[in-house]
Amino acid sequence: MLGVMCAGTVLSSCTGTKVKAEEPTEKYKRLIFFFSATGNSLYIAKELSGAEGTLMSIPQEIHNEHPVYEAEEIGIVCPIYCFIPPTIVQEFFARSTFKADYLFCVGTYGANSTIFPEYVAQMAKDKGLEMNYINTIKMVDTYLPYYDMELQKAEDKQIPENLAAIKASVNSRENFIRPVSEQEKMFCEGYYRFSGRDRVKPTFTRSEKIVFSTDDCIGCGICNSVCPHGSWKIVNGKSVAEGDCENCLACVHNCPTKAISIIPTPPEPEEPNRKSRYRNPNVRVGEIILANSQVNYNG
Ligand SMILES: Cc1cc2nc3c(=O)[nH]c(=O)nc-3n(C[C@H](O)[C@H](O)[C@H](O)COP(=O)(O)O)c2cc1C
Ligand code: SF4
Ligand code: SF4
Repeated sequence: MLGVMCAGTVLSSCTGTKVKAEEPTEKYKRLIFFFSATGNSLYIAKELSGAEGTLMSIPQEIHNEHPVYEAEEIGIVCPIYCFIPPTIVQEFFARSTFKADYLFCVGTYGANSTIFPEYVAQMAKDKGLEMNYINTIKMVDTYLPYYDMELQKAEDKQIPENLAAIKASVNSRENFIRPVSEQEKMFCEGYYRFSGRDRVKPTFTRSEKIVFSTDDCIGCGICNSVCPHGSWKIVNGKSVAEGDCENCLACVHNCPTKAISIIPTPPEPEEPNRKSRYRNPNVRVGEIILANSQVNYNG
C-alpha cells in the first residue's frame, strides 16, 4: 500500500483532532518509516515500498502512544545529518518496538556518509536488535551553507544505478552492512572537532537560531506546514521562526518565494547562493506537507 500514514492511521483521514493510536499495528508485508525535508528520502522510500509496501512518516508516528510495529520487513529511510540520522529519527527508533524478519535502513546523503552504517547498527544493538541491511545512497546535498543547489543538481550522482542495486538487495533480503573505512572515520572525527557539534544531536537546535524570513515572505504558511516541529508562526502577515529545529532546511527549500535565509553557524560559512533551492523532482510539496505537518499536534 502506498499511502503516508499518521500515528497508526492513514493521514488523509486525519482531521484537526489528535489521532488515537491503534495497538499494535496490523502485520504488514513491508513497512517503511521515513523522514524527508526535501524529498530525496521520500523518493527512495516510495521506490523501496513498491506495490506491497506501506509508508509511515516519522514526524507523524513520533506521536504514536503505542509504537509497536510488526511486519515481515521493516525499513527506515532518512537523510544523513553530520554523518548520522536526524535527531527525530533517532528518537523515533529508540522509543519504538519493531518486530520483523528483516530490518533494513537506507540513508540518503550528498557528499560523505562516513560512519552512518556503524552508527545505525549500534542504535539497533542498543535495543537488542540486529540490522540485516544498512546502505547509503548519494543524492543532491541540501546543506546550503556548503553547497550551491544549481551545481548539485548538475552533478551526476548515478542515482538510478545505485537505487536499482539497493532495491535488488532489499528485495532478495540480502544481509549487508556497508563497511566504514578508517579514512571515513578520520574524516568524520575531523569534522566533529572542527565544528564542535554534539555527537548525538549535532543538528538539533532552535529555528530562530538558524533561519529567518525576509521581506519576500507572503505569509502562505508553507514553511510551518513542511516543518517536522511546526516551528514557524505568522506575525503581522509574515512568518517568524520559533521552536525546536532539526536544521533540516525543509522550510528554506520549500518556500515558494525563496524568502527564507540561513543564519550561519560558526565556523560554518554563509550559504554561497541564497536563491538556489531544491526539492527532489519526484516529490511534490504536498507530499512533504502530508508527511511533516504538525497541524494535528500543535493545533
Ligand atoms: C543539517 C544537514 C546536515 C547534513 N549532513 C550531511 C552529511 O553529514 N553528509 C552528507 O553527505 N550530506 C549531508 N547532508 C545532505 C543530506 O543528507 C542529503 O541532501 C539528503 O538526501 C536530504 O534528504 P531529504 O531530501 O530526504 O531531506 C546534510 C543536510 C542537512 C540539511
Ligand atoms: S513559506 Fe516563505 S512565503 Fe510562505 S510564509 Fe513561509 S517564509 Fe513566508
Ligand atoms: S524550522 Fe526549518 S530547518 Fe528547522 S525543523 Fe523546521 S523546517 Fe526544519
